[in-house]
Amino acid sequence: MCGIVGFTGTRQAAPILLEGLSKLEYRGYDSAGIAVRDGDGRTEVVKAKGRLKALEEKTDCGLAMKGCCGIGHTRWATHGEPSEANAHPHISDDMDVVAVHNGIIENFREIKEKLSKKGYTFYSQTDTEAVVKLIDYYYKKYNSGPVDAISKAMVRVRGSYALAVMFKDHPGEIYAARKDSPMIIGVENGEAYLASDVPAILKHTRNVYYIGNLELAKLSPEGVEFYNIDGDIIEKEPTEIKWDAESAEKGGYAHFMIKEIHEQPKAVSDTLASAVKDGRIDLSAVGLSDEDIEGIGQIIIVACGSSYHVGISAQYVIEDLARIPVRVELASEFRYRDPILKKDDMVIFISQSGETADTLEALRDVKRRGIRTLAIVNVVGSSIAREADNVFYTLAGPEIAVATTKAYSTQLIVCYLLAVQFAKVRGEIDEERYVSLISELMSLPAKMQRLLDDKERIQWFASKFSNSKDIFFIGRGIDYAICMEGSLKLKEISYIHSEAYAAGELKHGTISLIEDGTLVVGVLTQNDLFEKIISNMVEVKSRGAYLMGLTTYGHYNIEDTVDFTVYTPQTDEHFTPSLAIIPLQLMAYYVSLAKGLDADKPRNLAKSVTVE
Ligand code: M6R
Repeated sequence: MCGIVGFTGTRQAAPILLEGLSKLEYRGYDSAGIAVRDGDGRTEVVKAKGRLKALEEKTDCGLAMKGCCGIGHTRWATHGEPSEANAHPHISDDMDVVAVHNGIIENFREIKEKLSKKGYTFYSQTDTEAVVKLIDYYYKKYNSGPVDAISKAMVRVRGSYALAVMFKDHPGEIYAARKDSPMIIGVENGEAYLASDVPAILKHTRNVYYIGNLELAKLSPEGVEFYNIDGDIIEKEPTEIKWDAESAEKGGYAHFMIKEIHEQPKAVSDTLASAVKDGRIDLSAVGLSDEDIEGIGQIIIVACGSSYHVGISAQYVIEDLARIPVRVELASEFRYRDPILKKDDMVIFISQSGETADTLEALRDVKRRGIRTLAIVNVVGSSIAREADNVFYTLAGPEIAVATTKAYSTQLIVCYLLAVQFAKVRGEIDEERYVSLISELMSLPAKMQRLLDDKERIQWFASKFSNSKDIFFIGRGIDYAICMEGSLKLKEISYIHSEAYAAGELKHGTISLIEDGTLVVGVLTQNDLFEKIISNMVEVKSRGAYLMGLTTYGHYNIEDTVDFTVYTPQTDEHFTPSLAIIPLQLMAYYVSLAKGLDADKPRNLAKSVTVE
């Protein structure tokens, strides 16, 4: 969703802001803007619809704007069409107050109405302009300074926000406030930075502060001060970010997505190494004791998108190995009903960003009910990581491409580790099986690498089908979970209509969609279900489908049925998603490439969905 950057120091702000915004492009946007203030409080605002390039052209790459303090924004439209007028920053009528905002102000109409009666004019259709003018109103009415004016506005508005605000009478200062939308602050050598996400400031600093919900901050070249909503100063310690700056760069690859696909063996290996010590799984860093594990009655997994697909795979693996009942829920559905939860349940929240609005709200709801929560999160210090009772971090590093690949793979690994450890602690598997499952897990990175080394075949195949109208993915059991992720990957970056079906469901309706030449991808990694899926594939073939089969080495009789086969290395059947997903990620990427699309920035999508 929207991206925010801010800078104050002794260097010119505009080029730093533009560079920061370019690192947030992955979040998705349709317009952008920056505001720069010079030492006398003179403000210049430049905005442009479309890509950042348009803003760079208008500002001569920032060189045309003078001033060492500024804020910038990439906007993903929620209220009002993508346009220059609706782009941020927004300003008060006299330009005393300038601000950018990420989130949604639910009661903006009511605020607009009130302020219109007081003489304010509105020039955009956005909810943000209402907050900017509300802050200006309180600032002038009470004359008690920026922190007071913003706090009063925070009490008045409903919704979510990360706000960065500059005041004419306070040159060199940026004020920040947040509720339920991400924002971080970095401080280094007389300069202060503000951003929606770490990659925007990683080049400048690794010392990052997290602003809590309903907190404020003042940034200046002297440093940063934090306040609670009553305006009292609060103390905070910085967190050191360990991600290396190169990991947030493309490093010679055409897109972040293909780079991140190639980073999967390392990401998985790092994540495994964080929990496997001397050949055994150690969950002490996560804070889960054997007693905790023995006491789990039921597991509920809550997530969105690809993280939800990880949950579906995990359901099969945890139920099968640990014999604990597992339910998987879409966060956006779960949070709006009154789910039946018991005291001994454990609710697992899976999220790369740790900021997905529906997952975060579902977590809060479960916490209010006093049920134990465990988060599987990639971004250190994100809201979900901070608010869950226990956190298991995936070590994927920064994931920039909108379509998740390495975070998905590391989330799967965490779920396998939990399943194997839960199974052992609860006596469902013996020592020999435990040791062999861990050794199988440890061998996954090398097997993933083998699939990556053989990507040219997939590239060739993908280019043949880049003009498809529809592509179907079919499988049963864990293979169905793989299909769900393969299908999402393809549709989100290639814009080809695609569906994943539990193969047994085809005859209940979907088979009528199969036409001559429709590509159907069958995933067959489970011995028990192999013959069943083959039968389903024969059924669609006899209706004209072109078949791709994705299976494990050893199943050579598939070649009699399918038109194109991809083999994955052998592994324990529970862990096949980690291998089978790689050809499907590559296929999605190469279809998108063949269509001339930008795989990193698919239309209408945002990396982190921080509004519901
Ligand atoms: O950050 P999260 O894991 O909570 O994000 C959830 C989904 O928005 C995300 O997985 C989305 O589906 C991906 N773009 C899919 O590639």
